[in-house]
Amino acid sequence: MSDTPEADMSKQADTPGPGPSGPPPDTPGATTPTAADADRNTTPEPDRATPAQHHAPTTPSPATPQASTPQAVTCTGLTYAFGETKAVDGLDLTVAAGEVFGLLGPNGAGKTTAIRCLTTLLPVPAGIVRVFGHDAARERMSVRRLLGYVPQQLSADAGLTGRENVALFARVFDVSRRERAARVDQALAAVDLGDAADRLAKTYSGGMIRRLELAQALVSAPRLLILDEPTIGLDPIARTSVWEHINAVRAATGMTVLVTTHYMDEADQYCDRVALMHRGRIRALGTPDELRDELRSRRRAAGETPKEPTLEDVFRDVAGSGLDESGDFRDVRRTRRTATRVG
Ligand SMILES: Nc1ncnc2c1ncn2[C@@H]1O[C@H](COP(=O)(O)OP(=O)(O)O)[C@@H](O)[C@H]1O
Ligand SMILES: [Mg+2]
Repeated sequence: MSDTPEADMSKQADTPGPGPSGPPPDTPGATTPTAADADRNTTPEPDRATPAQHHAPTTPSPATPQASTPQAVTCTGLTYAFGETKAVDGLDLTVAAGEVFGLLGPNGAGKTTAIRCLTTLLPVPAGIVRVFGHDAARERMSVRRLLGYVPQQLSADAGLTGRENVALFARVFDVSRRERAARVDQALAAVDLGDAADRLAKTYSGGMIRRLELAQALVSAPRLLILDEPTIGLDPIARTSVWEHINAVRAATGMTVLVTTHYMDEADQYCDRVALMHRGRIRALGTPDELRDELRSRRRAAGETPKEPTLEDVFRDVAGSGLDESGDFRDVRRTRRTATRVG
């Protein structure tokens, strides 16, 4: 059980400062920073927001859907460097409560680093990150209590049953003893693993493992669910299934979903709004329709008669020529390793 969440969760309390000065070591297998039952949260539950429709697309500046909309995430000027590499370079981002927001970008764009700052697994060396108003640098435990996190790396233990894996997360994240068994059952049922709950996770398919990890993140009833490449390495049927389960839980609970992916087609289909990230920065932001419309109009204005643009076309347009060269060997190796582990 080297990958259990305890190691990370138990020692860290809210801190007055922005954390260590240098970047901490990478945390492969770092698991959900979710904590506690969201019911115990003292922050009043904001009304569920309607995803904003009126952004100026392709604006790489802060996105504020509506002044009055409760924000699940606000991120201003977030910068994070690994030595010379600026993985996140002045990131401005707002995720409205209740929306499914996609952070898209090729390998190495900085998505995982940004997510780790948001989940408090990495410090926030520069900029401000808030989750439902709580400062990720100063109120780490408050932030953790609000969110569920499915990391890119494997977070389930192959030697435990599905139920034991989810029960472990329930215990670590403080779901009350009285409610625990029911909540574990609910989380497993929500991802259709009720029948397989008492089998060892090592007998699960890649898609089942991803759904198990989803159950682990959901057992604490998070208000914000963060998924890092939830469908990487899965076949198309398993990918659809993972998304359908995410959507069903979101519809039932109104939770906010922030997902990273490099599959543009999935983002197009399932996200209310997307941000296109490249080399640590947001290059375009809007609903998938807005982004496509904007590119179509621009191409028409240039005298072209373009075929219907895809989100990938939008990305190529805003990212310019550097897209194909993005992501170094290390990124490819990391991605492949993850795909093998979950596939
Ligand atoms: N632990 C690390 N040490 C050094 N460089 C890293 C580390 N993690 C990520 N990077 C670098 O930071 C950049 C962004 O990586 P990452 O946030 O993982 O991107 P993404 O999730 O979009 O693939 C890449 O250039 C990557 O090589
Ligand atoms: Mg990543």
